[in-house]
Amino acid sequence: MNATMIPQHLKLTQYKERRVHLGLCGSIAAYKAIDVCRALQGTDIKTSAVLSEAGARFVTRLSLEALGVDPVQTGLFSREDPVFAHLEPGQNASLMLILPATANTMAKLAAGISDNMLTCQALAFPGPLLIVPAMNPNLWSAPATQENLARLRNRENVRVMQPEIGEMACGDLGRGKLPPLLDIYAQTLKSLSQQDLSGLKILISLGPTREFWDPVRFWSNPSSGRMGAALAVTAWLRGAEVKCVCGPSDIWLPPFLERQDVVSAREMYEACLDSWPEFDIGCLCAAVSDFRPKTTLAEKFKKARCDSGFNIEFQGNPDILKALGRNKQKGQRLIGFAAETEADLPALSKEKLEKKNLDLICANRITDPGTGFTHATNSVFLLNKQGQSSLLPVMSKADIGWTIWDWILKTWTSNQG
Ligand code: PMT
Repeated sequence: MNATMIPQHLKLTQYKERRVHLGLCGSIAAYKAIDVCRALQGTDIKTSAVLSEAGARFVTRLSLEALGVDPVQTGLFSREDPVFAHLEPGQNASLMLILPATANTMAKLAAGISDNMLTCQALAFPGPLLIVPAMNPNLWSAPATQENLARLRNRENVRVMQPEIGEMACGDLGRGKLPPLLDIYAQTLKSLSQQDLSGLKILISLGPTREFWDPVRFWSNPSSGRMGAALAVTAWLRGAEVKCVCGPSDIWLPPFLERQDVVSAREMYEACLDSWPEFDIGCLCAAVSDFRPKTTLAEKFKKARCDSGFNIEFQGNPDILKALGRNKQKGQRLIGFAAETEADLPALSKEKLEKKNLDLICANRITDPGTGFTHATNSVFLLNKQGQSSLLPVMSKADIGWTIWDWILKTWTSNQG
């Protein structure tokens, strides 16, 4: 993974100019820290670093400096570092990311030992610490490491990611591998985000549905799932518990949120309706096929049978949003999307908002440039049931998702007061 491989729905402008201080320890996984730095820099996040003595044997100060990591610090008594370098990250960085974290460094962090620049900076760091361990499975499962892990996880400002199971560089198989870089990137953004949606459970539908007519042909639409994924990721980054019901799409979602994959509108209907009673907010962004072929053929339809053309008869699919609106309980809020091609977004939005018993509708005119299906960007018109509205200009779907949650927090709070 490098900066250009970060999915569009994770590219947020919120973190511009924030600084992440990387603490790099001695493990073969250290080289992957370079990709994490590149990815953060691709989101305009500044990076600085400290290398433990062992870390500096795997990745050099020069490599990091050449990539724009600034400053890069090393030994406690290094002549190249300023006298108070052990306090500097605590004053200027928003997050300390310890990656890869070895058993030795975790033990020191747990005990508050500060005998090198990395552990000293971590001890003095007043903000959040994100620790990403990587080590041999025997080191990971050792009782001492597990005790240290429990102590670290107990601290309010510390989050420790779980290493993956897999084959190690030495050939051993077990838990100890560095997690996938996208997971680390997502957890880093989460550690930098205000948790203003925490305590909320949000159900999101996304992507298209497929209505099969025979085993190889279906009726569908071009939804990529990006808009819904952007809403899901931004809600999760801000502390919400999120479940996604996904139509067929290869969109990447953090593994830390729940994902249920479905194919047809009827499967999506079942999944959303079953889940709805447990959620505070429903946000249906999926492009659901309103119709499906009346019959589904068991065998592939042969070309020879349709020399003179053929007709397919369609029937209506259930309206998921409307059903959720009908079953809405006190305290639950429902958000719908509207994909329109006509000009009068306010009037069309008002009609759908009322007909489907929504609290908010987000309408996009999908024929406008940079708007709607598959694009990395979108523009949406927001209208809530109190009649407040706002037009969000074309921006990345990630930023649209973030701004929708901002708007919801602002308008719902003012409507309660
Ligand atoms: O996935 P992307 O490529 O990023 O594209 C994003 C998007 C264009 C799909 C998205 O922004 C969007 O507009 N989603 C809603 C698409 C849609 O189906 O709009 P609609 O106006 O037909 O439906 C209105 C609402 O009813 C939607 O919330 C839809 O999820 C819901 N619906 C529709 C039909 C149906 N049978 N059941 C439903 O729940």
